[in-house]
Amino acid sequence: MESEDVTGGPVHLPRSPLDGARIVLGVSGGIAAYKAADLASRLVQAGGMVDVVLTRGAEAFVTPLTFQALTRRRVHHDVFEPWDESSAGHISLARDADILLVAPASANTIARLALGLADDLLGTVALSTVAPLLLAPAMEHGMLHHPATQGNLATLLGRGASQVGPESGRLASGAVGDGRLAPTEAILGAARAVLGRNGPLAGRRLVITAGGTREPLDPVRYLGNRSSGTMGFALTQAALDRGAEVTLVAGPTSLTPPWGARFVPVETAAEMEAAVRSAVEDADALVMAAAVADFRPERPSARKLKKSPGTAVPEISLARTPDILAGVSRPGLVKVGFAAETEDLVANAASKLAAKGLQLVVANDAVETIDRPDSAATLVSPDGPPESLPRLPKPALAALVVEHLGHLLKKNAASR
Ligand code: CTP
Repeated sequence: MESEDVTGGPVHLPRSPLDGARIVLGVSGGIAAYKAADLASRLVQAGGMVDVVLTRGAEAFVTPLTFQALTRRRVHHDVFEPWDESSAGHISLARDADILLVAPASANTIARLALGLADDLLGTVALSTVAPLLLAPAMEHGMLHHPATQGNLATLLGRGASQVGPESGRLASGAVGDGRLAPTEAILGAARAVLGRNGPLAGRRLVITAGGTREPLDPVRYLGNRSSGTMGFALTQAALDRGAEVTLVAGPTSLTPPWGARFVPVETAAEMEAAVRSAVEDADALVMAAAVADFRPERPSARKLKKSPGTAVPEISLARTPDILAGVSRPGLVKVGFAAETEDLVANAASKLAAKGLQLVVANDAVETIDRPDSAATLVSPDGPPESLPRLPKPALAALVVEHLGHLLKKNAASR
């Protein structure tokens, strides 16, 4: 994908691992099979080429036509389906797959896969493919916790399969328990992580911060900012897409952490500093996208501030918070900062680069960026001229920043 750079030539936009991936989606029997239709549609929208394989049990709940309409491809269910120029049944499905995703994976299908049974199409594809297996189990609470199911799952995971969910909540029976299919968003995230796990950042450990901090004034009020966390969460997804291990340290946001990230929620700058310091101990890079408060109320009140008649309007004295990015340093740690400015963008970013010992600063207009879904950034680094990027959705900008970070990590490793 390409986008026109307002300052120069076209900008190459990195792709998500789902874009262009060959996905075999195995759907097994259970009421959650209806949710697989939404999943198939989302996989297609993300650029995946989706071949659906239905088990006999699945066909009791959903029809091949549903999936055929959503994927615009033939739906498979017969182990003896006729071969033609475009398909050699399970052989071509298995050979062409980049991932075998089974969602929902019923207790029966999990047992059959663990045993290696080959008397249905899903079983034969699973036995003949070398593509990674991702299971999204969904079943009744008791079946999930039965030692047989747990043993079968452990067997499959031991052979290298990955698992997303299940979750707790209301089950089809009306009872509350474990066994709900993971949300579509989580299954998509897990598929991205599995497809990207051998990517250019495989084996790299990153610490990424996101969102704004809240500095308490009293037990119910705080000083905060408008940061939504979108950029830090998008950076996390982009890094997971390329195989990195990510610790995401985030101030309060309404966003769901990308699947596969180690999530550390914090509130204040001091809490963020402590979390970052402990997480960077074995990390290769720190990317500070958080909008950290520079000041905090010096003496937060232990009780709610009241406006009782006759009481003076409170005067709030402020104290400095720690500068997390400047304060963290370790030999070999690559540090990336963000600079949200309202004037002299590049000059201010360059002085932050030097003052905080950074390898890269992503500079952008504070008003045009904070709490918005897109951003126009300039990349400022110690070597080379600033690089202005066009206004891009934050996931696209995040992917470009993470690609740049990949080059920095390579350079760093080569110079050591
Ligand atoms: N930062 C930090 N700790 C702080 C303040 C900022 O780690 N207490 C990080 C931010 O996450 C960002 C970079 O430093 O990556 C620059 O943040 P920014 O707010 O633009 O700059 P400041 O250094 O706070 O300077 P100023 O607000 O005066 O522009």
